[in-house]
Amino acid sequence: MFLLNAIPGLIQTSLKRNVVLCRMVLTRTFSSRLVLGIETSCDDTGAAVMDETGLILAESLHSQKDVHLKTGGIIPMVAQRLHKENIARVVHEVLDKSGIGPRELSAVATTVKPGLALSLGVGLEYSLNFIQQHKTPFIPIHHMEAHALTVRLIQPLPFPFLVLLISGGHCFLAVARDIDDFLLLGQTLDEAPGDTLDKIARRLCLAKHPKCAMLSGGQAIELLAQEGDRLKFHFKSPMGQHYDCNFSFAGVRNQVAQSINKTEEAEGIQQGEILSCANDIAAAIQHTIASHIAKRTHRAILFCKAKGLLPQSNPCLVVSGGVASNTYFRKALKIVTDATNLSLLCPPPKLCTDNGVMIAWNGVEKLREGRGIMSYNDEVRYEPKAPFGTDISVQVKEANIRLPPLKLKINH
Ligand code: KG4
Ligand code: ZN
Repeated sequence: MFLLNAIPGLIQTSLKRNVVLCRMVLTRTFSSRLVLGIETSCDDTGAAVMDETGLILAESLHSQKDVHLKTGGIIPMVAQRLHKENIARVVHEVLDKSGIGPRELSAVATTVKPGLALSLGVGLEYSLNFIQQHKTPFIPIHHMEAHALTVRLIQPLPFPFLVLLISGGHCFLAVARDIDDFLLLGQTLDEAPGDTLDKIARRLCLAKHPKCAMLSGGQAIELLAQEGDRLKFHFKSPMGQHYDCNFSFAGVRNQVAQSINKTEEAEGIQQGEILSCANDIAAAIQHTIASHIAKRTHRAILFCKAKGLLPQSNPCLVVSGGVASNTYFRKALKIVTDATNLSLLCPPPKLCTDNGVMIAWNGVEKLREGRGIMSYNDEVRYEPKAPFGTDISVQVKEANIRLPPLKLKINH
C-alpha cells in the first residue's frame, strides 16, 4: 500500500493494471476520493481519473497533432471541432476503464485558463453539463499551474521550488510557493520557444523530411540537430543586455529566416525544398535557444538565492511543458543547476506535454487542501488570457544581476 502510493504515475503498464484493480477494491474500502480531470485548452483532448493519493485509475488522450501538422499550425475552429468530436468518447473511456460511475466522483477538475477560447469552451461546456447532471463539485484549473505542479505527482517535492515552463504557447520562470501561490520572475515578450521551433521547422519544410514526417517542429529540430554541426551557423543569443529573466524568441527566428533565404539563394534552390544543411541550422538554432533559456534560468536561480526564495536545503529547479522533452535543453539546464547546486527535476516527457493526468492531479491537490472547489450551481467562465502568479519581474530587473561565465559544452 505504501509502495503503491510512493510511486504514483510511474508504474509500468502491466503492473499498473493490477494496481488499478487492487486499488479499485481499496478505493471502495477506504473511500479515497476520486477526481476526473479534463483538458482541452489547446489541441489535446485529455481525461484521467485519479484517486486522492495520486494513483491514476485511467487516462486517455486524443491528440490532434497529425491534423495540425498537415495544415501547418493550429486552426482554432478545427481544434474546436475535433475537441467536440472526441471529448465524450475520451471521458467515457476513462470512466469505463476505471470502473467508476459519475456519482462516485468527488470532483471534476477542468482547465478553464489560459488557452484557445474555442478549445477551452468545449471542455468547460462538457464539464458543466456533466457536473449539473451528476451534482458533482467542480474545480477550475489553471493550465500553467497544472504544468508547474505535475512534478509533485512523481515525487513528494515540498514548496517552494523554481519552475521553468517551456511549451508551444508559453514560457515562464516562476517560484512555486504553494498550490495556488506563484511568483512570476520572467516570461516571453513575444513568442514561446515551441512556437518558434515549430515555425522554423515549417520554414525548413521538415514535414517533407523522411525522418520527420510525423514529428512536431521541436521534435524534428532535436532529431536533425543530432547530426548537425552547430558551428556552421551563428545566431546571436537574444537579450544579452537585459539583466532580467524575460525571454524573446522572435528575433532568433528572423535571424534563422535570413540565413535560410541566403542559403537557398546560394544553393540555387526554391523555397519548399529541403536544404542540404538543414541539420546544421537545426543544431545552431537548438544551441542558441538552449543558451538563451539557460542564461535566463541561471539569473532566476541567482535572484532566488539573493532574496532567500528557495530553501537552503536541496533547492530544486523543475522544468516542464512540451519543449522540456528536449534532451539538449535538459543538458544545458543541468550545467546551470550543477553550477548553482540545485537539483534538476523533469517529469517524464509524457507528463510534460498536455494531458488529462496533470489536470486531475491539480484537482486532487486542491481537493486535499479544500481550496478552489465550486458547487455545480456556481457560474464559471473560461479565460483565454490569464496571468500566471504574482508578477515580480520588475524586482528581478532592478536586481540587475550579471551572470558569471558558464560554458555550455553539451554533447548529444
Ligand atoms: O506543452 P505542449 O504539449 O503544448 C502546449 O504548447 O501547451 O508543447 C508542445 C510544443 C510544440 O511546440 C512542440 O514543437 C514542442 O512542444 N516540443 C519540443 C519537443 N517535443 C515537443 N520542442 C523541442 N524539443 C522537443 N523534443
Ligand atoms: Zn501545456
